[in-house]
Amino acid sequence: MTRKILVTSALPYANGSIHLGHLVEYIQTDIWVRFQKMQGNECYYVCADDTHGTPVMLRAQKEGITPETLIARMHTEHLSDFTSFHISFDNYYSTNSNENRALSESVFKRLQSANLISIREVEQFYDPEKKMFLPDRFIKGECPKCHAKDQYGDSCEVCGSAYDPIELIEPRSAISGVEPVRKSSEHYFFRLSECSQFLRKYATEAHLQPEAAHKMDEWFEQGLKDWDISRDAPYFGFEIPGTHEKYFYVWLDAPIGYMASFMNLAKRISLDFGEYWGADAKNELYHFIGKDILYFHALFWPATLHYSGFRTPTRIFAHGFLTVDGEKMSKSRGTFITARSFLEHFNPETLRYYFATKLTNHIEDIDLNFDNFISRVNSDLVGKFINIASRTAGFIQKQFQGKLASTLDNPGLLETFSKAAPIISDAYEAREYSRAIREIMRLSDLANLYIDENKPWIMAKNTNEDKRLHEVLTVAINAFRLLTLYLKPVLPAMAEKIEAFLQIPPMGFKDCNTYLLDHTIAPYEHLLQRVEMENAEKLIKANRDNLTSTVSREIMPDKDISISIEDFQRIDLRVAQILSAEIVEGSDKLLRLILDIGESKKTVLSGIRTSYSPEKLTNRLVIMVNNLIPKKMRFGLSEGMVLTAGDTDIFLIAPDIGAKPGMKIH
Ligand code: MSP
Ligand code: ZN
Repeated sequence: MTRKILVTSALPYANGSIHLGHLVEYIQTDIWVRFQKMQGNECYYVCADDTHGTPVMLRAQKEGITPETLIARMHTEHLSDFTSFHISFDNYYSTNSNENRALSESVFKRLQSANLISIREVEQFYDPEKKMFLPDRFIKGECPKCHAKDQYGDSCEVCGSAYDPIELIEPRSAISGVEPVRKSSEHYFFRLSECSQFLRKYATEAHLQPEAAHKMDEWFEQGLKDWDISRDAPYFGFEIPGTHEKYFYVWLDAPIGYMASFMNLAKRISLDFGEYWGADAKNELYHFIGKDILYFHALFWPATLHYSGFRTPTRIFAHGFLTVDGEKMSKSRGTFITARSFLEHFNPETLRYYFATKLTNHIEDIDLNFDNFISRVNSDLVGKFINIASRTAGFIQKQFQGKLASTLDNPGLLETFSKAAPIISDAYEAREYSRAIREIMRLSDLANLYIDENKPWIMAKNTNEDKRLHEVLTVAINAFRLLTLYLKPVLPAMAEKIEAFLQIPPMGFKDCNTYLLDHTIAPYEHLLQRVEMENAEKLIKANRDNLTSTVSREIMPDKDISISIEDFQRIDLRVAQILSAEIVEGSDKLLRLILDIGESKKTVLSGIRTSYSPEKLTNRLVIMVNNLIPKKMRFGLSEGMVLTAGDTDIFLIAPDIGAKPGMKIH
């Protein structure tokens, strides 16, 4: 019986480009979907851009365009990247759509009728200059635990602790730089705490991988907290019905975007929406996601669906994160590799193949190691798989006018290949692609061994061996055909070229027991070039260089970036002379410096007291950052910063003798 299956990948944010980390997921999903289609199942793969939220709004503002213009541009860019990697969605939509608005509103209203929405006052940081509430990631300050400077509002990258932004020491808005104030407003909450019985049951019903189910247990133990699903204006998103200037938090409408994308497809090709999403839907529903968003998909999402009268996911498949050469992808190291840049240096199917050799059904991180990548592509794909055709196809053309024999030299070998089909398809079905590839490569070794033993290039010199030569070549080409069939979910474009070479219609798994006999094939054309380390080096260099041009467009503050000369020149550095220095009462670190910078005087509160006593400072020349946004501190206003070196022992940076107050530093 054909199964009816709906598959999704997580919706990528519309404020950034697709990178190789994303591609782990989209390639993993695409392989599975292609496999299902090759099995003859009715399978649909939908996705969309995740368009709402503060980062998109701010990025659009910075670029001086509307959010709608920005998301339209990103949609085109994302879809073109995906298409280049042969990721074949049945629909690639947007969360900023009419379908999504209508569905989100109706989900909300149903949750409200089920008495699962509550309203509560929430106090949050507010940027008085930008006149907006600040998401955690847009607040920076000193870590309350380890005192590392410049940490995000939700967690510290140095000591790893998580906290509430209210706990940050000397918090400031990452958008305007001013000190945020606390302000309260009404928020809407989804009462997740009421759903724990249902969710506990859901967690035990084999919808999740064992590691994910285990994580759920931890969450249950900690107790489920109600979920804040509203945000105040200004916000790019859907306004909550019946409210004024309250919007759905992006994570409420994002997963509903899966339904909206399907609804849009269903209208276009006449599918029944209810058969896939109705409370009693029998069709299968699978979500592929990364481990970082498990909480949203395993808790919020099934609860949202269940209590608004829809079906819940059949299974949620989480994968690990991509590392490059064993480390987290890093912009400064050039290993934050965009999909686009990869295409300039390598064939996209090499990445699909490499990921397939690494992917399992566990939530483990997977590593892109370029030595390993190069050897997998060169020795497996070029050296084993393609080699079978490249060293036999020529003889078929030359000696036999492109026609295969009607009998086989060694039917047993091909039977071995056919018998492997269930093993390989089970592995694909179970998302154990690495196991599928191992089996396919084992077969490729057998085919190469067979060719090595028979040496067609020697037989070709002996006219009396023509018949056997013809039969041997026919076995080799048939072996190549079956390997192509098995690799087709991973290498769809190459498989298509090979189908054209073999002059056969598109293959499915049902074709694994038939052989091509007495059949004419086209001349062989080269399929894939070897890859070189040099290309990997160029790729990494390009991603490092690329930084300077993209950085100024980025909204999210990021420690891990280099800056352009233009960025540097925006800092107004001046020679300043200390007119007076005095101890700040109540602080054990700060000195109040009055600085002469030529045309004016400025007051700076500087944390140098542990290394300098005030009386030694008068008349000294220092370097000052003159255009810092003035900062209101507990002890008064600080109008800039004096440059120092060191952390515990502090050293003032001074210009050479002869420099005058007010001189600009270049
Ligand atoms: N917009 C949300 C998802 C909403 S789904 C209703 C989001 N977007 S994302 O662009 O940050 O990530 C999209 C997917 O890519 C997520 O599943 C995420 O886990 C995955 N990956 C992002 N970076 C990744 C790696 N470095 N490695 C592997 N997967 C990664 O989250
Ligand atoms: Zn810390």
